[in-house]
Amino acid sequence: MKNYPIGIFDSGLGGLTVAKAIQQELPGERLVYFGDTARIPYGTKSPETIVRYARQIIRFFRKNKKVKCVVVACNTSSAWALEIVRREFPVPILGVIEPGAYAAVSVTRNGRIGVIGTEGTIASKAYVRAIHKIFPKAKVYSKACPLFVPLVEEGKLMGPVTEAVAREYLQPLLKAKIDTLVLGCTHYPLLKKVLARVAGKKVKIVDSAEETAKSLHHNLEMHGVPMNGRGGCQYYVSDLSRKFKQQAQRFLGRTIPKVEKVFVEKY
Ligand code: DGL
Repeated sequence: MKNYPIGIFDSGLGGLTVAKAIQQELPGERLVYFGDTARIPYGTKSPETIVRYARQIIRFFRKNKKVKCVVVACNTSSAWALEIVRREFPVPILGVIEPGAYAAVSVTRNGRIGVIGTEGTIASKAYVRAIHKIFPKAKVYSKACPLFVPLVEEGKLMGPVTEAVAREYLQPLLKAKIDTLVLGCTHYPLLKKVLARVAGKKVKIVDSAEETAKSLHHNLEMHGVPMNGRGGCQYYVSDLSRKFKQQAQRFLGRTIPKVEKVFVEKY
């Protein structure tokens, strides 16, 4: 089991930010990344569909890759599918929401926390529940930001259009005097500069990727899962688009040498 890999999946390539944080935290671990590039975005889809997709990907990981645990790097999938697949599969499964909530609670001073995410993530109220479980008195202000994912996918990481959109989305949260802003979507860390400028210096920005990596480390130890393989990561996607290289580079900060396409619907 020691050398079995850790499976990480996302609706696309945004979850590479989580894979990168895991590689930094656990450099000896072997990773398998699956990006559901044929079916992105998840953020606008129904919970039933999100759960079906998660099941297929986890089956692929278990059948073909013998993973020792799974990280759901996608916030929307963590919000809707995590609890269900955790009950169905005999393998530890970790999401990004609990670690993000934990980080937000440890950072806030005034107990007023803003959460931004896809429509699906915000509608699920998963962050609100996770934050209240740790800090029942916290005031949580949530806002769906559906234009952010397409902006990032198009590489519009800054500039007047992105800034205007960010201003409009963040305005109600800033009015509510939040001091912490949770980036509840894989794509939003790439907008950190613009978001920080719009939110102002008093607002601390929480990106759950690092916290998820730390939580994974802790969980592997807690479950007694043997660690320290040989490192490295294999990459799989459900569609190889023309933009793949460029987007992988954007999220990972480097190119991906080898990637394989998988017909995930068959699992
Ligand atoms: N990965 C998704 C998330 O973190 C964002 C992109 C999508 O809508 O699929 O919620």
